[in-house]
Amino acid sequence: MIIWTRKNSDIPSSEITPESVYINRRKFLGASAGIGAAAFLSRDAAASPLAPRQEEEPNTWEEITSHNNFYEFGLDKKDPSRNAHTLVTKPWTVKVDGLCNKPGDYALEDFIKPSTIEDRVYRFRCVEAWSMVIPWRGFPLADVINRAEPDPGAKYVAFDTLWDPDQMPERRWKPRIGWPYREGLRMDEAMHPLSLMVNGLYGKELPNQNGAPLRLIVPWKYGFKSIKSIVRMTFTADEPPTTWATQSPREYGFYSNVNPNVSHPRWSQSTEKRIDGSKLFGSRRIDTLFLNGYADEVAHLYEGMDLKKYF
Ligand code: MTE
Repeated sequence: MIIWTRKNSDIPSSEITPESVYINRRKFLGASAGIGAAAFLSRDAAASPLAPRQEEEPNTWEEITSHNNFYEFGLDKKDPSRNAHTLVTKPWTVKVDGLCNKPGDYALEDFIKPSTIEDRVYRFRCVEAWSMVIPWRGFPLADVINRAEPDPGAKYVAFDTLWDPDQMPERRWKPRIGWPYREGLRMDEAMHPLSLMVNGLYGKELPNQNGAPLRLIVPWKYGFKSIKSIVRMTFTADEPPTTWATQSPREYGFYSNVNPNVSHPRWSQSTEKRIDGSKLFGSRRIDTLFLNGYADEVAHLYEGMDLKKYF
């Protein structure tokens, strides 16, 4: 698994970590596999059909912030970077409700402050069969769940994106998509240490087009599970309705775990286009890994489940 972690509760939000530092650290970890977080890396290297380490270097800031899906700001990959400047991220409130002991409206700062901020490099695989490698900054989703003290009856957690047509230009799809964008996880998936609440990218503040000021990243699932600009978290007893599974249940499921053996009804998922602006045609095709390369860590969550059914 690709993961490089730095924990530091005092990282100032203004701190900027140059891309070259990430890339050099990644190379260092590649060379010293087996030490601490790098142990994850070595496992990945052994399991992965992706040969040399340089193939897994992080995408550039430019690539990560100019090739986006954020339909509230338009359907073209370039639309979010063009349009998301209208999103007002300060102040920002996250509502926590449903089956828990500590519901409330939390100011973003209060929501984030008690957590230890970490930098993590994860693979990111979109259901549309493109992928990147992204150095996120954030904190475990489990932290905020624990602080909310969910009831034993809470089996799922649902998330809502802000929906404000005055800030979000893409109104045409409102009737079809039924905004706000909604996502959800089973509680054990949400509590898994890989599930990350993200508020930064490359050590900087998260850009609006990537889901500022707070988004989810679940690296073993297709990217659409990684909901952006979160304003609400709700603990539920039943599987919550989610945007794409509601919109097109034949094509998108609640689980949506990356699986090269289960085709989308309209395309194969066995390979992916790794976005790479340094290549002549801006990308190259590589094999898709089961659970996006995180099987050692998360496959046990699905023991006994037919992953073909629970796509
Ligand atoms: N969240 C919201 N609110 N709206 C969206 O359209 N798109 C999803 C996901 N989260 C989406 C969203 C999809 S399909 C993908 S692939 C990722 O965001 C893209 O994240 P990125 O733009 O940071 O790469």
